[in-house]
Amino acid sequence: MKKDWWKDAVIYQIYPRSFQDSNGDGVGDLQGIIKRLPYLEKLGIDAVWLSPVYRSPMDDNGYDISDYQDIDPIFGTLADMEELIAEAKKRNIRIIMDLVLNHSSDEHRWFLEAKKSKDNPYHDYYVWRDGKEGELPNDMKACFGGSCWEWVPEVGQYYFHQFSVKQPDLNWENPKLRQEIYNMILWWMDKGVGGFRLDVIDQIAKEPDQKITQNGPRLHEFIRELSRETFQKGALITVGEAWGADVERAKLYSNPDGSEFSMVFQFEHIHMDQLPGKEKWDLSPLRLVELKQVYKKWQTGLYNCGWNSLFWNNHDLPRIVSRWGNDKEYRVESAKMLATVLHGMQGTPYIYEGEELGMTNVGFTDISQYRDIETMNMYRERKAAGYSEAEILKSLQAKSRDNGRTPMQWSDEENAGFTTGTPWISVNSNYHEINAEKELADPDSVFCYYQKLIHLRKENRIFLDGAFTLLAEQDQQIFAYTRTDETEELLVCANFTKDPADAGVMEAWKQAHPDAELLIHNYKEAPGSTLKPYEAVIYRASH
Ligand code: GLC
Repeated sequence: MKKDWWKDAVIYQIYPRSFQDSNGDGVGDLQGIIKRLPYLEKLGIDAVWLSPVYRSPMDDNGYDISDYQDIDPIFGTLADMEELIAEAKKRNIRIIMDLVLNHSSDEHRWFLEAKKSKDNPYHDYYVWRDGKEGELPNDMKACFGGSCWEWVPEVGQYYFHQFSVKQPDLNWENPKLRQEIYNMILWWMDKGVGGFRLDVIDQIAKEPDQKITQNGPRLHEFIRELSRETFQKGALITVGEAWGADVERAKLYSNPDGSEFSMVFQFEHIHMDQLPGKEKWDLSPLRLVELKQVYKKWQTGLYNCGWNSLFWNNHDLPRIVSRWGNDKEYRVESAKMLATVLHGMQGTPYIYEGEELGMTNVGFTDISQYRDIETMNMYRERKAAGYSEAEILKSLQAKSRDNGRTPMQWSDEENAGFTTGTPWISVNSNYHEINAEKELADPDSVFCYYQKLIHLRKENRIFLDGAFTLLAEQDQQIFAYTRTDETEELLVCANFTKDPADAGVMEAWKQAHPDAELLIHNYKEAPGSTLKPYEAVIYRASH
């Protein structure tokens, strides 16, 4: 098998609790995923990244693992997991598991032991500081609220947690812990998994005394050892989640020599509707010109010396069509436009469940409808800080992680065909209009458009290795770029707004390439010199 098969692959992310329930308990499960493999095959994807399905008390929906070598009963059994890997393989789909290695659950056997006494062999698997109850080691704050430090009376020490109090940080300085992690990964590799997504991997080399969480001094040393001891023994896709990555660091992470990962998930583009120094909840419009510059930097910066992941969505982000498209009158057009802009670039595209249907934010109007720990925490903090209920709900409607976590909309049956029971989180009420059954039956649907894009990427090598050049850099409406190799050129041109946009840049390119062929287009009528709301095209021409 080619070591870098993942370069021309398209990955589909499943949030298992929201994908398909098979037993009526209201929570999606592995048998549900198996049932939907034909759907995924039809879409044309090559691999599925599963958010965590390990045993977990579910404080953070599985990102708090209490046994890395077992499946949580709400999702099924280890045998179901083996069946999923085997069934997916029959359809040429690989299964990518989510590895949460920065922290475990406080209910993991290691932590239960660790907190018994200072001389317990597992004590040093976690990060502890001496102190007195009520006198915190320092003022570092945890991601899901409160201090990073939690007192354990049994040992008279604080443990460190960057996320919730139920997610104690693992101590990567300890070689025995690292070895246990490697053994566990090799065990999964032996089961035939196709790769791993590494949760908040840039936070493993923490130095709490210096208040360092991201990009700690030993980070790349740890990652190289991890990669050498595990991933490099197979032909895996590995993708590190790295909120703190810049282009220089991403070159290390995705070094073509394979010493670290295949690629990283970095989020610089995602911040283009957030103002510097502000929180994501402080809403601000998208800055398109800056967004284009960010892509230019990453597309040119990693060319021939690294690899990009391409994504708009995941389980931590709101739905892109509601965020930067238009989820009302131009839902279909804008969903297709966003897909065109992204899939035209160099890198490995990730499609998050429901994105291929143009699923939208859910618009919950009451805090009781939300489930996410981050959302609950924000609600408490902003209430205490004096924000009004209406202001808080407005921010959540735009940015809560639950927007991406409502059940997959399969059909217009009750609960969108997701479950016969009561779903763990409400289904978006627009499922009668937006659902997979309807999309599959309509050749002009968002689904069919994604299918076509995936196909185009596979048929045309230039998507894989063409060099990227941004056009019309200062244009406030148009996102246009070319991809070029020795023989061919692609033009990707899109109107990112709901107003008609002057397409002079496209006209000029077409004049220079009179033989250009239209590969894909999100409107029926041929493109004119003005691009319609959210209109997008890809042309191909030979030099
Ligand atoms: C990552 C996950 C997120 C989780 C956090 C803590 O950012 O994507 O869902 O809450 O890590 O594990």
